[in-house]
Amino acid sequence: MIKVAIVIGSTRPGRNGEGVARWVHDLATRRDDAVFEIVDLRDYDLPHLDEPMPPAMGQYEHPHTMAWAEKIASFDAYVFVTPEYNRSISGALKNAIDFLHAEWANKAAGFVGYGSVGGTRAVEHLRLVLGELQIAVVSSQVALTLAADFEHFSVVRPASHQAGRLTAMLDQLIPWAGAMKALRSEAVPAS
Ligand SMILES: Cc1cc2nc3c(=O)[nH]c(=O)nc-3n(C[C@H](O)[C@H](O)[C@H](O)COP(=O)(O)O)c2cc1C
Repeated sequence: MIKVAIVIGSTRPGRNGEGVARWVHDLATRRDDAVFEIVDLRDYDLPHLDEPMPPAMGQYEHPHTMAWAEKIASFDAYVFVTPEYNRSISGALKNAIDFLHAEWANKAAGFVGYGSVGGTRAVEHLRLVLGELQIAVVSSQVALTLAADFEHFSVVRPASHQAGRLTAMLDQLIPWAGAMKALRSEAVPAS
């Protein structure tokens, strides 16, 4: 069975990201073509990147890196639930991505962005970052806007069409996750 991580891309107290991730998880788990798990950056408590060797070398020294690597390696695909901070992703998410290398490679990813304009600029940045890590990114994405898809800008209540957008994205993601899984079984190099 395809395993998909729903990665919460913010760590801020009072973050909207947690509610968005729960909405994604609630809808996604109605599917029977994959299993879904929320992965919360807060649970890994990563410092700013503190590994002496570049992650591409795969020589991790710290227990926090090994725990993060083991979790990320266990998935076939990722749904990044990302806020937009200053037209990009959060520093916490970029740092967590930078910590690893081979664990991301030859996997698939989709996006649920949120923010004043649906997190769209953050998702554009994230697409570039993940391309460097050999992650196949699907074109459909969900864009939740604070004004239309949240109550009081803080309680997620997506407009009715957003569930369909999420389904469209997952409909692209799961087959790509399967294709990349087959690719990995052929031992395609990470970079
Ligand atoms: C540091 C910071 C910068 C932000 N910059 C933007 C921005 O450039 N564009 C935007 O649409 N929203 C921006 N916002 C609004 C956030 O996208 C919105 O508050 C969102 O809920 C943040 O995610 P979080 O609540 O999960 O932390 C910013 C919020 C913060 C905290």
